[in-house]
Amino acid sequence: MGRGIGEIVNPGLIIFLRGDLGAGKTTLARGILRGQGYDGKVKSPTYNLVEHYKNSRLYFYHFDLYRFNDPMEWEDAGFREYFNAGSVCLVEWPERAHGLLPPPDLQIFLGISETGRSIRIQADTEAGRQCLKHWQAPTHL
Ligand SMILES: Nc1ncnc2c1ncn2[C@@H]1O[C@H](COP(=O)(O)OP(=O)(O)OP(=O)(O)O)[C@@H](O)[C@H]1O
Ligand SMILES: [Mg+2]
Repeated sequence: MGRGIGEIVNPGLIIFLRGDLGAGKTTLARGILRGQGYDGKVKSPTYNLVEHYKNSRLYFYHFDLYRFNDPMEWEDAGFREYFNAGSVCLVEWPERAHGLLPPPDLQIFLGISETGRSIRIQADTEAGRQCLKHWQAPTHL
């Protein structure tokens, strides 16, 4: 699923990943990066707040704001500049930086079910809708 999403994301997109602890946000982020053609290590950004990736098309920033609690840090760390037309920002725990983050183009809701995980993807902007138009259900599932 993540790979399928990674294949259709464009520079400029802001994606919020929502779901309880252990819902599978980082696992999905790994898949998205694989879909972007990145085959190196994908670490959870729990301690650093953000991990950076780059390919020929775009910068890719994977945030985990679970431990974020200081609004001053947002400015000091320069996070605001990460959200620009040439980058994709994928954010776990966006609610921890409420009011600081720009609004998302896509929101992905993950839930834990008996047999695995459930996923719902919501487009909130025209850019998000355009992205989802290219969605193709994974054939390997
Ligand atoms: N689709 C899935 N089916 C079954 N297990 C999964 C799935 N996705 C993730 N898991 C498992 O759930 C556990 C938690 O996954 P993950 O770390 O991705 O969650 P998270 O939402 O990022 O958690 P956190 O809120 O702590 O950041 C891991 O053991 C992972 O292997
Ligand atoms: Mg995580």
